Amino acid sequence: MSDITSKSNTQVSAFRNWLSLIGLVVSIGSFFSFVLLFVIDLLAKDPSPYLGILTFVVTPGFLAFGVFLILLGWFLQRRRIINNAANAEMPLITIDFSRARDRRNLVIFTLCSAVFLLVSAVGSYESYHFAESVAFCGQTCHEPMKPEYTTYLNSPHARVGCTECHVGPGAVSFVKAKLNGVNQLVGTIRNNFDRPIETPHNLRPAQETCEQCHWSKKFVGSLDRIYTHYLSDETNTPVTFRLLMNVGGGDPTHGPVGGIHWHMNIGNTVEYIATNDNKQSIPWIRMTDAKGTVTEFRTAEFKDDPSKHKIRKMDCLDCHNRPAHQFRAPQDSVDLAMSMSRIDAGIPLIKSNLVAILSHTNTTETAAMEYIAITLRKLYPNEKRIESVIGEAQQISRNSIFPEMKADWRSYPDNIGHKTYPGCFRCHDGKHIAADGKRKVGASGCNDCHIIIAQGAGEELKKFNSAGFNFAHPDASSEGTDPDCVTCHGASQ
Ligand code: HEC
Ligand code: HEC
Ligand code: HEC
Ligand code: HEC
Ligand code: HEC
Ligand code: HEC
Repeated sequence: MSDITSKSNTQVSAFRNWLSLIGLVVSIGSFFSFVLLFVIDLLAKDPSPYLGILTFVVTPGFLAFGVFLILLGWFLQRRRIINNAANAEMPLITIDFSRARDRRNLVIFTLCSAVFLLVSAVGSYESYHFAESVAFCGQTCHEPMKPEYTTYLNSPHARVGCTECHVGPGAVSFVKAKLNGVNQLVGTIRNNFDRPIETPHNLRPAQETCEQCHWSKKFVGSLDRIYTHYLSDETNTPVTFRLLMNVGGGDPTHGPVGGIHWHMNIGNTVEYIATNDNKQSIPWIRMTDAKGTVTEFRTAEFKDDPSKHKIRKMDCLDCHNRPAHQFRAPQDSVDLAMSMSRIDAGIPLIKSNLVAILSHTNTTETAAMEYIAITLRKLYPNEKRIESVIGEAQQISRNSIFPEMKADWRSYPDNIGHKTYPGCFRCHDGKHIAADGKRKVGASGCNDCHIIIAQGAGEELKKFNSAGFNFAHPDASSEGTDPDCVTCHGASQ
């Protein structure tokens, strides 16, 4: 096509080689993908944070590779040109339309490029969907996400995508999520992520997540909940509490305002200060009721000026903080398995032994599996039923205890109750007092949030009391000593 042997033309024409041409197509393809992903990312309502990895790491990577090929082709070709300066038969690409071979090659090349571009466009779109998917969040980054993914699969939200709860809209959270996704990739590759993974403090406000599906004005009324436990004695004595949870509602047009869902921010607002990161200690509360009356409650220890602290507004997550990732304590998972007869309650001391075994700290899942099997076989050498207990105990361990990530009931408190974690008692403990020195946070008695309609075991459970029984603590020796259940039942006890 042109005078390729002239020295002045060497630089330009050296680009005319197959390697550079392939590089060019790769570059155009990846640039095209980059633009496409960037646009999808901008327009999508809730893009995955991991899309950023594709947009800002993978596609630019391909672009760089394409440019590298172009330069490599150029470099090799240039060397050849210089070496063969005198030689007229240069293997450069010259296209002469009068030659049938050239016409055919050009058609093939154009077709291949078109297919490549199409594939990269479809590929980018598909990868976009993949990055959005639960499989990507839960499985791709396997080790760090395993605890959250496993607990999620066993949760009532197992059909809700991770991004429904985890990625915020708006430009700021867009950029933040991108950087975060890329950061997490780097962390994973360098193996320096937190163990356990820190609970996100930047989860979208509940209005934008939970309330997209759950209607805060719904009147729930009372829910019947049954809690069955087994004592740590020889016979694994069962004990059950049947509670009528007064969930109620917060909106006067749908039912009486009151009960647990009174704190829905509809008529009333509750704000608070938490002095630790996981919000387990709440020394100050401000309540604004439907009439606009403001009341502040504080504990005796808290003397600070509230304006020096971050004041949060209470929402769904302050009670339902584990809707998708509940890490059950061994006590509770063993009780559940026993009440479902998956573990035979007739095996002497099985409750206390299993709780002790599951609470043992291991460094890997494999070690935990071995520890469970070996210890149980040693404790029950002549027990035929023990093999099935081993299987069940290992299953409990795999579903709720993750040694590699140090993730278990000890690392992630659940705020819904008050037995294993402070939960409701962070505020309803009778220790938060208003400025008048008299008024305390209401609803702090044992029959305020729920009534105990039945308790005990066997025949006792058939006796109902619609006004609520007085709580009969299962262990007579500690009855009435301290209403603060966590002192004895807490996760760290
Ligand atoms: C129903 C909403 C919801 C869904 C769906 C959901 N999460 Fe979460 N996730 C949460 C909440 C709530 C927290 C804790 C936030 C808090 O306590 O402030 C959390 C916390 C986390 C944490 C921090 C560690 C921890 O346990 O506190 C990770 C990691 C996480 N989620 C990953 C995922 C992954 C991966 C998926 C999908 C497989 C997913 N989440 C699906 C609501 C959800
Ligand atoms: C994409 C929709 C969606 C989002 C977002 C969502 N949920 Fe749900 N949630 C559901 C569905 C559907 C169910 C019912 C599951 C079932 O009964 O099978 C449910 C069930 C529940 C339950 C009852 C669980 C039980 O044990 O019966 C609670 C509590 C709950 N969600 C709280 C939350 C909270 C808190 C959030 C925000 C962090 C949230 N949900 C976000 C769809 C959603
Ligand atoms: C951040 C502090 C805080 C937390 C945590 C909290 N509450 Fe409350 N709650 C309040 C305040 C403040 C009031 C209003 C008390 C008053 O009027 O004296 C209230 C009122 C109530 C009421 C009475 C509503 C009515 O009918 O007037 C119930 C029931 C209740 N809470 C249940 C719960 C339950 C159950 C939990 C745990 C799942 C919980 N609360 C967690 C602050 C809190
Ligand atoms: C003060 C604590 C508290 C707050 C705030 C709160 N909940 Fe609840 N919610 C509860 C308790 C306690 C229950 C009873 C279930 C239980 O004990 O497991 C419940 C039950 C539910 C249920 C199950 C209802 C059913 O019919 O099965 C859903 C769904 C739910 N809450 C959603 C929400 C959503 C959405 C928000 C925020 C708009 C919210 N809750 C705010 C404490 C709270
Ligand atoms: C501020 C509200 C509130 C008050 C006050 C309260 N509870 Fe509860 N309680 C709850 C909630 C919410 C749950 C459900 C936890 C869950 O869903 O796992 C619960 C659960 C329980 C359970 C079953 C726990 C289990 O795992 O077996 C018992 C027993 C119980 N409460 C007894 C009491 C006693 C005794 C008192 C008085 C010292 C009391 N409660 C005061 C809110 C309250
Ligand atoms: C002074 C310590 C102490 C306090 C405080 C305490 N308990 Fe217990 N609780 C025990 C002991 C000890 C047992 C017997 C444990 C066993 O046999 O495994 C027990 C057993 C139980 C059981 C049945 C077995 C189990 O592990 O679930 C329940 C349910 C229970 N307590 C609920 C509560 C509640 C709710 C509160 C708070 C209102 C509370 N306890 C306060 C010491 C205490």
